[in-house]
Amino acid sequence: MLCPMTKWTVNDIPQQNDRTYVVTGANSGLGLETARALAAKGAHVIMACRDLDRGRAAQARIQGGRTEVRRLDLADLESVREFAAAVESVDVLVNNAGIMMPPLRRTAQGFELQFGTNHLGHFALTGLLLDRLSAGDAPRVVTVTSSLHRTGSIRFDDLNAEKSYSPIGHYAQSKFANVLFGLELDRRLRKAGSPVLSLLAHPGYAATNLQSSGPVKLIALLGKPANLLLAQPAAHGAVPQLYAAAGSGAESGRFYGPSGFQEMRGRHPKEVRPVRAATDPDVAGRLWAVSEELTGVRFP
Ligand SMILES: NC(=O)c1ccc[n+]([C@@H]2O[C@H](COP(=O)([O-])OP(=O)(O)OC[C@H]3O[C@@H](n4cnc5c(N)ncnc54)[C@H](OP(=O)(O)O)[C@@H]3O)[C@@H](O)[C@H]2O)c1
Repeated sequence: MLCPMTKWTVNDIPQQNDRTYVVTGANSGLGLETARALAAKGAHVIMACRDLDRGRAAQARIQGGRTEVRRLDLADLESVREFAAAVESVDVLVNNAGIMMPPLRRTAQGFELQFGTNHLGHFALTGLLLDRLSAGDAPRVVTVTSSLHRTGSIRFDDLNAEKSYSPIGHYAQSKFANVLFGLELDRRLRKAGSPVLSLLAHPGYAATNLQSSGPVKLIALLGKPANLLLAQPAAHGAVPQLYAAAGSGAESGRFYGPSGFQEMRGRHPKEVRPVRAATDPDVAGRLWAVSEELTGVRFP
């Protein structure tokens, strides 16, 4: 019998021996826990990391399984193209990597860093891998967002933060874009009769490097003690994205988060709702068109 979602744990992931996963940002936090859990079930996991040394150090912490580390810098579309071109086959793509609240910085192509990394890099990667995903076995794309998407919106008149920049506001924008993208991808795949599923997940609040490695100084300073006091372990935070990636009952166009208090924590996944504004197909269509234009990646 299938395990009900409210009791689901990583132990319920079926054996994954013939399946290949690409996990972005797999050297740290939720990405590392995702790679670890999938490898434990026999999956071939391509750990897509921007720094090969950090990737290999993380790989050494994973027991067994078939993992390999490959270079992917989502803040450089050249790197995204190189990485995607070298992927022979893939069944599931987990768009996990992210950066939170840095001071104003730009990607190699000059986009605001959070929008460029968290959204545009994953948008391009998904489009470039879609032919191989379509040929995959029960293929899925999982996009990791945040409950902070609720405060986001897309500033179409200042996408590149030329007029103003707020570290938290632009993080929320990038995570709002993740939700618009995941839902629009589902609509387009269903319309095209594609076998690929598109799912969303958020981890609640999990203790990772996110709160200390990228953010502006004040947030980074508060990040460590706040993590110690309030955050759940990264392994628990990874459960919703693992359910979306490998849970037998997970469905396309659905959004999964932790089942505990205020969706902030929990050992089991549950279906959660995106903020209403992120379900607007017109806004999603507009973001899609802009993203194709900015990245030069057109979905087949
Ligand atoms: N932790 C939370 O409470 C929380 C809450 C809501 C949402 N999330 C989301 O969860 C996801 C994973 O974050 P995390 O909490 O696990 O944080 P983390 O420990 O900092 O991991 C983030 C990963 O993304 C990678 N990354 C950053 N920029 C990249 C780039 N340009 N190219 C490729 N990889 C890049 C990092 O690589 P380096 O190690 O080289 O920096 C790292 O592997 C993110 O999308 C985040 O927005 C987390």
